[in-house]
Amino acid sequence: MAKTVITFGTFDVFHIGHLRILERARALGDRLVVGVSSDHLNFKKKQKYPVFSEHDRRSIVSALACVDEVFSEESLEWKGKYISTYNADILVMGDDWAGRFDEFKSLCEVIYLPRTENISTTEILAAVRATSA
Ligand code: CTP
Repeated sequence: MAKTVITFGTFDVFHIGHLRILERARALGDRLVVGVSSDHLNFKKKQKYPVFSEHDRRSIVSALACVDEVFSEESLEWKGKYISTYNADILVMGDDWAGRFDEFKSLCEVIYLPRTENISTTEILAAVRATSA
């Protein structure tokens, strides 16, 4: 039977680490669904808005060959609901989240993939700011 993989993230200032995790997530199944966190959710989490709007972040992720469907993640509390709605067989998260989604093992398989080393949105923004200072 076809397997659906689901993953979540902000994917702001899209970079190679984002692409690699989405490609590896897709390779674990037959269909990849990505929850891109809303601007509002990011503000709630980090007291700041992403650089790219949620519309643009969703457009970039939707355009990838490895991504089949994208939706807006509106609340961190709704992961279980999203897993059920999209009939996900596997939840993939980067290993910066290792262990933090184990509660969903009753709903689907939970796999933490190693992050790509030496790159993050935070580091890119810091490097750009340092260059332009
Ligand atoms: N990710 C990854 N390798 C990286 C950066 C991110 O595999 N070098 C993964 C994360 O583990 C997550 C997904 O990409 O599953 C989306 O991560 P996100 O938080 O949007 O990206 P970061 O670059 O980590 O952003 P920030 O620096 O703002 O935390």
